[in-house]
Order: sequence, then structure tokens, then C-alpha cells
Amino acid sequence: MSISSKVKILITGGAGFIGSNLCDYFLSKGYEVICLDNFATGFRKNIEHHLSNPDFTLIEGDIRNFEDCRKAVEGVTYVLHQAALGSVPRSIKDPITSNDVNVGGFLNMLTASRDAGVKRFVYAASSSTYGDSEALPKVEDKIGKPLSPYAVTKYVNELYADVFSKTYGIETVGLRYFNVFGRRQNPEGAYAAVIPKFVMQFMKYESPVINGDGSYSRDFTYIDNVVHMNELAMLTENNSAVNTVYNTAFGERTTLKELIGYLKQYLTEYDKAIKGVEVLYGTERMGDIPHSLASISKAKDLLNYNPQFSIKEGLKEAVVWYWDNLKEA
Ligand SMILES: NC(=O)c1ccc[n+]([C@@H]2O[C@H](COP(=O)([O-])OP(=O)(O)OC[C@H]3O[C@@H](n4cnc5c(N)ncnc54)[C@H](O)[C@@H]3O)[C@@H](O)[C@H]2O)c1
Repeated sequence: MSISSKVKILITGGAGFIGSNLCDYFLSKGYEVICLDNFATGFRKNIEHHLSNPDFTLIEGDIRNFEDCRKAVEGVTYVLHQAALGSVPRSIKDPITSNDVNVGGFLNMLTASRDAGVKRFVYAASSSTYGDSEALPKVEDKIGKPLSPYAVTKYVNELYADVFSKTYGIETVGLRYFNVFGRRQNPEGAYAAVIPKFVMQFMKYESPVINGDGSYSRDFTYIDNVVHMNELAMLTENNSAVNTVYNTAFGERTTLKELIGYLKQYLTEYDKAIKGVEVLYGTERMGDIPHSLASISKAKDLLNYNPQFSIKEGLKEAVVWYWDNLKEA
């Protein structure tokens, strides 16, 4: 049993991109942090710098295993649930595993949290829940039909969270993340997100390939805005701000063509040769919607959310990080 008087937070998926940034932030704020991760898509190197910190505990375990979840929530006040298998194409290729982790694992975590008397369960939801709705901007209570198995899993998370808060009284807050980017987002593998993938390609003078004609747009959201939303959701004392979901975004959309232009510009400041790298255009991807843009009014009104990083500011920071950390990779 812990003898620390610090407030304990469990961050599932804490060795991943978003989770490891949450670990850094909440340890810096004086919390005790438990990280539960099975390293399916996360990395030890993302949390290595905390392993000797007495306020940090790593539990190598799987959210599909209820015992691991039960152990991880002992004495915990807040859960920030990030563990899941991301990526629409991954879920199209293997819907069963995505469902086992994203739905079965979610239900395990929620049930273990209820049993342990956790005060609040904040979880990573997704903009994919807007599905085929073409309305812009996206407003929380107007969703369409899911376009992928991944989107189904993330919507089911919201349904379970809602039922658990009504049935058992556990407080829940869902954060519908919109295309998050920044330090530690993995550039490698078949399911890499576009920003780190393009950055690495430019750094190696390889031509990035845009799916479609580059006119598709997204509300790209810098990691620090997401960390800020997690803190607000975790700590709000406004009763009408819990047991609901929030768009977690900057609130502006950028086309893929604009995005690649910014990346090229910022990287050219480090290496002039990148200016000459050609951008190629391919076919559109299954399950992709043309445009995505969040309304962040609800988060502003109920959580006092005020995103600090625009896409350009975030991209500049991300480029510096990739250059300093992965240039030689
Ligand atoms: N990155 C985005 O743009 C984005 C957008 C919408 C939603 N999300 C959601 O945010 C969360 C974090 O995403 P991320 O981008 O940091 O991805 P990530 O892959 O870097 O992090 C996910 C983490 O969960 C861990 N994990 C996976 N399966 C597990 C299991 N069975 N048991 C324990 N740990 C497991 C992985 O090892 C990894 O460390 C996910 O729930 C994802 O669906 C992300």
C-alpha cells in the first residue's frame, strides 16, 4: 500500500504518444502517477525518464485482463484512460482485436474504476464518432453513423460511460480528440499518423504521398491543448460539466496541402535541401471523411477551455522535437 499523501492518477496507455505527455505533465504538477500499458503501440523510451521517480509506477499489463485493471486502480482518485488501438485502417484490417481492446478493455477499466471508488473517469473519445455527418463545425450532440470499426468502438465507449454514470454514479468525461499531433507521436509503421510520417519523410528526402488531392481538411490539435483539456476535465467542480463529452480541438481546419506546405517551410529552416522534395498525390483512403472541424464552444463554456497552441505554433514545436530527437533515426 502506498504511503504517499499525493493524489493518485492512473494513466492507461501511459507509454503511448498522448499518455506519456500526460505522465510528464501530471508528475510535474505533483501527482502520483500510475501508468498501465502493454506496449502494444507504446514505448518504454517514452516513460524511461520517470522510472526512478518514486511518484511514478509502471504496471506492465493489459486492459483486456480484468485483474490488471483492478490492480492498477487501487487507491486511485482519477483515471485518464488512453489505452486503445488507434487507427481506422488497423480496425478495418482486424476489427476483432480493435473491439477486444477498445470496447472490452474499456469496459474492464470502467468496471474496475467503479469497484475501486474512483472519483472521475476521463477517457479518450474520438472525432471519428461524427462518422458520416457532413455538418461543420462538429457539435457534440449531432453525430452521424460510424464509418469504421474503430469509430464504432469509440462511440460504444461513450455509451458505456453514460450508462455507468447514470447507473452507478461514477463521474465520467469523454474527450473527443481531433487529429492530435506533437512530440513522441510515432512516425513509423503502417498505421502512422500523417504529421510525424510526413516530417520523417521530408527529413529523409523521401516524397510524402497525400491521399487524394490535398483538399481534405482536419482540425489538427497540438498535444499541449489536449493535456490542458484533460486537466480541466479531471478537476472541474462544475457539476453540469461532468457525465458528458467534449470536442478536444483547436477549432480551425487546415487542408492537407496547407499542412504539408507548413511542414516543408519549417523543416527547410533546418535543411535547405528539403525545399526540393516533391509531394505526391495518391488515392483517397477508405473510411476518411472529407472535412473535419470542431466547435469548441462547449469546452469553452463549461470547462473554461482556452487552447494555447494554434496549428502553426504546434507544428513549429513538433518540427523542433522531431529534428532534435529523430533526425538520425
Ligand atoms: N492521436 C490522435 O489523433 C487520437 C485521435 C482520437 C482519439 N485518440 C485516442 O487517444 C488515445 C491515445 O492515442 P495515442 O495517439 O496516444 O496512441 P498510442 O498508440 O501512442 O497510445 C496508445 C497506448 O495504449 C497502449 N495500449 C494499447 N492496447 C493496450 C492494452 N490492451 N492494454 C494496455 N495498454 C494498451 C499502447 O501500448 C500505447 O502506449 C487512444 O484511445 C486513441 O484512440 C487519439
